[in-house]
Amino acid sequence: MTQTAQTLSTDATTQIAEALNQCVAETAVTTMLAQNFHWNVTGMAFGPLHALFQTIYEDHFTAQDDLAERIRALDAHAEGTLAGMIKRSKVAEVDGVPADQEMIRLMKEAQETLAETIAGAGELAANHGDTLTEDLCIARGQAHEKFAWMLRAHLA
Ligand SMILES: [Fe+2]
Repeated sequence: MTQTAQTLSTDATTQIAEALNQCVAETAVTTMLAQNFHWNVTGMAFGPLHALFQTIYEDHFTAQDDLAERIRALDAHAEGTLAGMIKRSKVAEVDGVPADQEMIRLMKEAQETLAETIAGAGELAANHGDTLTEDLCIARGQAHEKFAWMLRAHLA
C-alpha cells in the first residue's frame, strides 16, 4: 500500500533517510569531482569536456538539494558535512590531475556507482510503499545512467 511521509512508520523513515543520505553523500562527492575535472582538464578535447563536466556538476548540485530536502520532508536529519559525506561515499575523491581519458573513466565509474546506490534506495523506498521517494530515485538513477552513457561513448 502506498505510504506518505505522514503514514510511514518511524522504522521505515529511518531506513529510507539512511539510504537517501548515502545518495546525497555520493552525489555531493561527485559534484566536487566534476568541478575538479571541469577546472583541470587539458588536451584537444578541452572545450567539450570542460562543458560536459560543468553540465554534470550543475545537475548534481541541484540533485543533492532535492535528495536532502526529501529527507527533511520525511522529517529525518539530512547530514550536511563534507567530512561525513566523504567518509560514507563509495565514490572517492581523486588526488592529483589525471589525464583527460582517465577523468572520463573515473567520472563514468562514479556515475555507475551513483546509479546503483540510487536504484537501491528507490527499491528500499518502494518496499516500504514510499512511491514518492521511489519516483525521485528513479529520475536520479536515469540521469546518472545517461551521464554514464555519454562518458562511455568518449571511450569507444
Ligand atoms: Fe567554470
